[in-house]
Amino acid sequence: MGGAQNTVAAASPSHPAIPSVKKDTILAHAGRDPARYQGMVNTPVFRTSTVLFPTLEAYETRGDDQFSGVRYGRHGTPTTRALEEAVAKLEGGYRAVALPSGLAAIAAAISAFVKSGDHLLVADTVYSPTRSFCDRRLAPNGVAVEYYDPLGGGRIADLIRPDTRAVFCESPGSLTFEMQDIPAIAEAAHARGIPVLSDNTWGTPYFFRSFERGVDVSIHSATKYIVGHADAMAGIIVANKQRWAAVRRTVADFGYSISPDDCYLALRGLRTLGVRLNHQQESALRIARWLAARPEVKRVLYPVLEDDPGHALWKRDFGGAASLFSFVLHPASEKQVAAFVNALELFGIGSSWGGYESLATVARVEKYRTATRPAFGGPVIRLHIGLEDLGDLIADLANGFVQMKTAG
Ligand SMILES: Cc1ncc(COP(=O)(O)O)c(C=O)c1O
Repeated sequence: MGGAQNTVAAASPSHPAIPSVKKDTILAHAGRDPARYQGMVNTPVFRTSTVLFPTLEAYETRGDDQFSGVRYGRHGTPTTRALEEAVAKLEGGYRAVALPSGLAAIAAAISAFVKSGDHLLVADTVYSPTRSFCDRRLAPNGVAVEYYDPLGGGRIADLIRPDTRAVFCESPGSLTFEMQDIPAIAEAAHARGIPVLSDNTWGTPYFFRSFERGVDVSIHSATKYIVGHADAMAGIIVANKQRWAAVRRTVADFGYSISPDDCYLALRGLRTLGVRLNHQQESALRIARWLAARPEVKRVLYPVLEDDPGHALWKRDFGGAASLFSFVLHPASEKQVAAFVNALELFGIGSSWGGYESLATVARVEKYRTATRPAFGGPVIRLHIGLEDLGDLIADLANGFVQMKTAG
């Protein structure tokens, strides 16, 4: 699925005989070095606060290459470095830093570029806690936060002011999956020397190679597909060379520190990211098509579908799709919507996504948009498709529709 090649990474110095290491090979090999750890295939969990140095001179020069080696637990251990290296390599960025959650990664990445008196452009369709961070932490501290129409593409140029310091994107958008023309936005921002930050949780470093599309700082909630098993929280920021120092310094200044155990879980999840995503996107597409043909459904919001307004952009820029999408019901009462969701036996009701399990929630879109007026004309339900049997999931949804009708 997807039109973008999205497969070739630069030749790896660790595999000199292979001219171009493909992304599935990166998933299996990056971030581990058995020769360093007595042949152990996985990088072990290193727990530490203190790191000891052989001499006073070595201790006092430990900060010279601040974030490469290991110098104090808060800045990361070899387990952290392994995860960071693997994700940076997969996505094609310069370097990465791991944080305790995706939202921490968003907050730190934005904070690296804006201060009081600056102007920040934020897509109207961002994950709602990103919006809360901007409204509750940045705006009262003097940052002019402006939400923009995510569909404007290169017209973002008209919104860039002399005091604009960053453009924040999320493509596709949270809950309603509008695609952004990231290369066009990047071209406009770069013409004015402004970095593009993008929440790439949906695209994943496997399906959207941010840096080839002009993103400067890519942000992931690794809690989702990278961890993949709904058992740890993690965030990752990947940056290009130009923006790396600002990002890494900010993460250190805030004191963010992710546990090595969670890094290990994220690294373990990463090994199977490709097979899970490929399987889940197939099931998601089949379910999306099935839903589109249902009489209860007005519209499915999933750029993978040919008639989705974002399909051409998705096909051009992405190598595949996450198994997360929404659908709009024909007008239905709250009671009917609740009857549908509550009847589901295999779809859990809960936050997050990207794990092995299917989830359903009602997307209260109107609460989270200010620059655009979403008019879907019916309740919006968001589904995450997990690894369950496809037929079983469809049967569960079909039963939901029966219960919805009965409730009406
Ligand atoms: C698009 C997106 N970005 C960021 C996050 C935040 O990630 P975390 O829950 O790891 O803080 C989420 C969580 O749902 C998300 O959906």
